[in-house]
Amino acid sequence: MTARTYAIRTFGCQMNEHDSERIAGLLEADGLVPAVDTDAADVVVLNTCCIRENADNKLYGTLGRLKTAKEERPGLEIIVSGCLAQNDREELQRRAGHVDVILGTHNVHRAVELLHQSRETGPVLEIWDEALEEAESFPSALAVRREIDYSAWVSIQIGCDNTCTYCIVPSVRGRELSRPFGELVAEVRRLAADGVHEITLLGQNVNSYGRDLTLARRELVDDTDADIEIAGTEWTGDGSRRIRPLFADLLTAVSSVEGIERVRFTSPHPKDLRPETIAAMATNDAVCNHLHLPLQSGSDAILTAMHRGYTAERYLEKLAAARAGIFDLAVSTDIIVGFPGESDEDFERTLEVAAEAEFDLAFTFIFSPRDGTVAATHTDRFIDPEIVGARYKRLHTVTERSALAKHRARIGRVEEVVVEGVSRRNEQMLSSRTRQNKLLHFASASPLRPGTRASVLVTDAGAHYLSGELVEVLAAPRHRTRIPVSAG
Ligand code: 5AD
Ligand code: SF4
Repeated sequence: MTARTYAIRTFGCQMNEHDSERIAGLLEADGLVPAVDTDAADVVVLNTCCIRENADNKLYGTLGRLKTAKEERPGLEIIVSGCLAQNDREELQRRAGHVDVILGTHNVHRAVELLHQSRETGPVLEIWDEALEEAESFPSALAVRREIDYSAWVSIQIGCDNTCTYCIVPSVRGRELSRPFGELVAEVRRLAADGVHEITLLGQNVNSYGRDLTLARRELVDDTDADIEIAGTEWTGDGSRRIRPLFADLLTAVSSVEGIERVRFTSPHPKDLRPETIAAMATNDAVCNHLHLPLQSGSDAILTAMHRGYTAERYLEKLAAARAGIFDLAVSTDIIVGFPGESDEDFERTLEVAAEAEFDLAFTFIFSPRDGTVAATHTDRFIDPEIVGARYKRLHTVTERSALAKHRARIGRVEEVVVEGVSRRNEQMLSSRTRQNKLLHFASASPLRPGTRASVLVTDAGAHYLSGELVEVLAAPRHRTRIPVSAG
């Protein structure tokens, strides 16, 4: 019998990509295999996002096409998951009766069970308003089907306790919950044993990782069992019950796991970037010299209206401290243009601060009102889209200029890279990542497997890439190459 096939379309951030890996893992554990022809897949998963755009139009368009496909192939099953499903559940149910399963961000682990249930009962909608079974709410806690063998995401925290006024995340992802310290270290050990040498720690506000754990731990009097439950069996703190975030300790612990050569993380919040995190980045060789530090705006008035908890000056101070402490640090950022009430002067400040910060990379976004956020209610202060468009272009010019300068400054250096695969643009070239997270293309006479480490001389640069020549291969990948299992 031929195995049933699945295809997943992921919208949005790395958190969603990680959730998709997890759904893939669950479907494969249930006997499904990835579809080669995604249009012919038996199970289609749409993992949605509503952070920055009105994704609903796109989603309903895709669902319309799937309706026709389902009429032709009644065996087709459709799952809609993610933030948009969490937020627009009733509308989705009303407008898309042909969707078999609608699930939210807190019950991803139930995807297959719900699919089975829908076969018995018809369409199923299950959204949890909060993470209930904590252990299972962490994507990493379940079998995942990783897209890349040598690299893995590790979700250290879910939810967000901040109140940025433009942001829908706290309402869809809920309150901040940290995964026990010891569990995380154990997972990283397992991954390393499996041949993974690069990990990316994921969280909405990684600097505050562990605040909830230490809080809960301080309440304890002398109960070792509960202690272990909260902190994990391998609690490596100093034994005290002070309330403090544990992110720096976590960085040190996972960097010390044998076989882990690169540790990345995203995203820290500037207001919480602490000296010990900078020190942990500086002293642990495995932690990559790249920091993603979202600025959002250069105007203090707008930063206040956004509820960001820092001024532009404070941001620049933190950035200077990070650059002073961490050798050869690359810095990327997120900036929003056209926040309600943003005046010409506010925007000029953003340009100035962006120029001063000299980012290696900036993700720039046009403000998009998200229903349910404070900023979306300030309709009287919305900025004319034409003005926003012009501002966006000017900001882009400034951030591209510093990105190009930063990339050009690498010419003549030898970078340590990890090969990602054949370049998408030019089959003769390989694409790789430097420790600073820059894309570096180079030619190689022999094919190098993804995960291979090499040193490459940088000979040219654009604003978003470097190119160069192979100097030497440093190490072959340690992970096992997957042998495709025939479905026949
Ligand atoms: N409009 C525009 N950009 C947004 N972001 C988050 N919410 C919005 C919104 N409503 C951006 C922020 C954040 C990144 C993940 O997405 O810059 O850092
Ligand atoms: Fe959203 Fe702010 Fe939390 Fe980031 S820190 S997820 S922008 S509320």
